Amino acid sequence: MSSPMDLYEQLTAQGLAVRHIKAQKGNKAEVESAVQLLLRMKEDYKLLTGQDYQAGRPPTHTEDDDSGPAEDDEDDQVNPWNVSTSSAKGVDYDKLIVRFGSCKIEQELVDRIARVTGKTPHHFLRRGIFFSHRDMHQILDAYESRKSFYLYTGRGPSSGAMHVGHLIPFLFTKWLQDVFDVPLVVQMTDDEKYLWKDLSLEDCHRYTLENARDIIACGFDPDKTFIFSDLDYMGASPSFYRNVVKVQKHVTFNQVKGIFGFTDSDCIGKISFPAIQAAPSFSNSFPQIFGDRNDVQCLIPCAIDQDPYFRMTRDVAPRIGYLKPALLHSTFFPALQGAQTKMSASDANSSIFLTDTAKQIKNKVNKHAFSGGKDTVEEHRKLGGNPDVDVSFMYLTFFLEDDEQLEKIRQERCASHRRTEEVFDRDASAHDRGASGETQASDRRDRATVHDPAQTTLQLLEPSEERTLTVFCSCVITLC
Ligand code: TRP
Repeated sequence: MSSPMDLYEQLTAQGLAVRHIKAQKGNKAEVESAVQLLLRMKEDYKLLTGQDYQAGRPPTHTEDDDSGPAEDDEDDQVNPWNVSTSSAKGVDYDKLIVRFGSCKIEQELVDRIARVTGKTPHHFLRRGIFFSHRDMHQILDAYESRKSFYLYTGRGPSSGAMHVGHLIPFLFTKWLQDVFDVPLVVQMTDDEKYLWKDLSLEDCHRYTLENARDIIACGFDPDKTFIFSDLDYMGASPSFYRNVVKVQKHVTFNQVKGIFGFTDSDCIGKISFPAIQAAPSFSNSFPQIFGDRNDVQCLIPCAIDQDPYFRMTRDVAPRIGYLKPALLHSTFFPALQGAQTKMSASDANSSIFLTDTAKQIKNKVNKHAFSGGKDTVEEHRKLGGNPDVDVSFMYLTFFLEDDEQLEKIRQERCASHRRTEEVFDRDASAHDRGASGETQASDRRDRATVHDPAQTTLQLLEPSEERTLTVFCSCVITLC
């Protein structure tokens, strides 16, 4: 993979080559093509390092040069395929903001959202679970001057079962849709999962339909929500595909190698996939919603590991005549065993699935949840609990909406001379209640009536073209 230093050296060599050709009075076409290559390399360099190339000045350490997967010299690994840290408190999110070059969600921004919407900010905002953003002030400026925007989020359907961590962006997006009353598009990247995992196309598509039901159960406005499978929509929407191709033309292999760590032996599907995740950021990818308008700004709520896709998208947007999407980034939902990794569907013991019953949830938490790592009951009694590393307490910060009750539990935990397992029984009812976001989702999912099971969530979007597009949640699925 090209590091900033590799690119710097290649650029220096190309600069010398251009000078050499000119000095030799090489023919015009030869000079021209060498100069063109030099310019393209300078663009790559700028995207990778955030700096302009200057001869004789090697790249300095920047946000982007260690955000790539292979270059992390720090403990924290954060990229679309891997999240891990050696700290039981979880990833150092302040450092990540500096590395990724995003902005911290300060209290001032939370207050402004409250002012603009007239609503109490969601507890994910109050508690720093959504902690970082790009251009959120711009979205609010526009909104205040009566310019609307739309929301875009997504899900890679890698199995039929979603876990509670997957719900974080969706629950927050639902709140944003409610308070701003704006359209939402949800991309189901079944193509991505086919390319990355050992799954058949049929399985990936089936998981899209399965997962879409859980997503719909979060309660989005059926008239303002468009959920689509890439496998279906890419082939059916000329406007969407045109944007994919535009992005593909303006991002080089060097750039995606730098951003995502692709190597020469990755299949070409992976290499071009980022263009597909970029396309929904542009409003004219959805003519059925926005007509031919390409100037409706997009706001993307997502977990911070998806940022590399959107750094790339923001870089190409102005070059193809579009607005840059704004972003709101969330922290990760910790695995049961501790905040060193995020909850992962591939490890059943690390995860609480939406289909788990309240009893199963309680058992898993009691049995597997990391409570602070004191080896013995005596030690725990002596030292007390530590909510900073206690996973079941962390879960409460995600799902227990009542600030006062949460603070009370935190204080008791700190002073507690009992282990989590002992205090958990008392908290379990609060936890179950707090977790209503997800239990509700699974309940509602069971109750969601699918009118035509064979179609699950299909709707005709363009009757005139007689194309069936997946998946629109209006009409076909009725939420109770
Ligand atoms: N790549 C994401 C995943 O694997 C899915 C996704 C597509 C997404 N578009 C998105 C997530 C936009 C957040 C925002 O889960």
